[in-house]
Amino acid sequence: MAGSRGQFSSRIGFILAAAGSAVGLGNIWGFPTQAASNGGAAFLFVYLILAFTLAYPALMAELIIGRHAHANAATALRQISPSSLWGKIGSGVGVAGMVVASLILSFYAIVAGWMIGFFVAALLKLLGLNDVAIWLESFSTARNLGLMTLFMGLTAGIITQGVHGGIEKWSERLMPMLLACLVGLAVYVLTLPGASEGLKIYLLPDFNKAIEPDLILKALGAAFFSLSLGVGTMLIYGSYISDEEHLPSLGGWVTVTDVSIAVLAGFLVLPSMYVALHNGIEIFDASGNLLSEDTLIFTVLPALFDTIGSAGVVLAGFFFFLMSIAALTSSISMLEVPVAYFVERDAGSRPSVTWVTTAIITLISATIILNFETLFGLVITLTTRYGQPLLGFMFCIYAGWLWNRDTLLTELKKNNPGAADGLFWRIWPTYVKVVCPLIILGIFYQSI
Ligand code: TRP
Repeated sequence: MAGSRGQFSSRIGFILAAAGSAVGLGNIWGFPTQAASNGGAAFLFVYLILAFTLAYPALMAELIIGRHAHANAATALRQISPSSLWGKIGSGVGVAGMVVASLILSFYAIVAGWMIGFFVAALLKLLGLNDVAIWLESFSTARNLGLMTLFMGLTAGIITQGVHGGIEKWSERLMPMLLACLVGLAVYVLTLPGASEGLKIYLLPDFNKAIEPDLILKALGAAFFSLSLGVGTMLIYGSYISDEEHLPSLGGWVTVTDVSIAVLAGFLVLPSMYVALHNGIEIFDASGNLLSEDTLIFTVLPALFDTIGSAGVVLAGFFFFLMSIAALTSSISMLEVPVAYFVERDAGSRPSVTWVTTAIITLISATIILNFETLFGLVITLTTRYGQPLLGFMFCIYAGWLWNRDTLLTELKKNNPGAADGLFWRIWPTYVKVVCPLIILGIFYQSI
């Protein structure tokens, strides 16, 4: 298997790569800014509940199916189907996941490009090239197009190298640095005037807000986005795990790491907003709404770095470098979805499939940039708030209802002969069968 399809070479390699996929812009750009504009602590509270009760079981469904089938989502769902009709529907779900993954990458690359822009701008400021730096930091179609294309090129470059040489090596090196940098910055920001205001908003929930259907739907989308669910990313990563691994704990590690980093980023971003406000930077409009959710952190974080003086430029450079890397370890997991699908269908060699797919996604992304006002928010909402949870629902149906129970148990027993008596087997199968689908449908029903 390792010869033809590639495999993660170690347990820690997989955890870091899967955590690398999970940890990205969703944690540091998506979650904190959504929390800030949706009641702070109430959003945090609902997000935490949904991450552990819904997203973790859905993640396990993808990992287990993936490792069993050792194939992409379309093939895997077809394989575990009880009939040819379900097989066809399964392939359809896999293909839909691939389309959603590609669309997610097309907006993700735009935001990731901004991260690269702020990183390079910090370097240029150190060299005294302020004009170019300001251009890189200011919103313009030309800048967005250039940086997005650069980011897509980097993503494709890593994906052509395959699982072991590309994905695993990069994640292992850079993930720990990101964590250290976040902790350091969060501790620093808490010492600044204004920070405690943000901290209060982040930590004291207003439970009335926590039961609003709209907030719950947004938190569901955020949790699914953050764990890279519903589009077959985690299924593909699962297909590269060796049979010796204990899947439930691997999935648990990935979930805990991902959620912790999102929560930690909240401790950086929400206090930073109020520090920025304290320093005279506008972040709310007259009616008290955040000025712009999408670009918020590109306003408040640079303002935070400014409080540090000249060392702030160095720190800004370092921070945006790590963010660019975090975005890359996520974007490669998105691009891997269509690439694995076409390679496994023998549509061409890995490098040629990678470059063709990349070109198509780059064109979609350019279309979004050229129609930014109308398309950017729309694509994000359609893919993350609706696409991912609904496809995640289908994965739960396949794992819970359609897949033969004995085969599933055999899969879990591969590395753990006592799996049948374990806690996971007692709870999870019924849970993905009944509880997860019902909650997902319930949340959608409520919000309509
Ligand atoms: N989870 C990543 C983040 O938080 C984004 C991501 C990677 C993703 N792969 C995905 C989102 C697949 C949806 C689907 O930034």
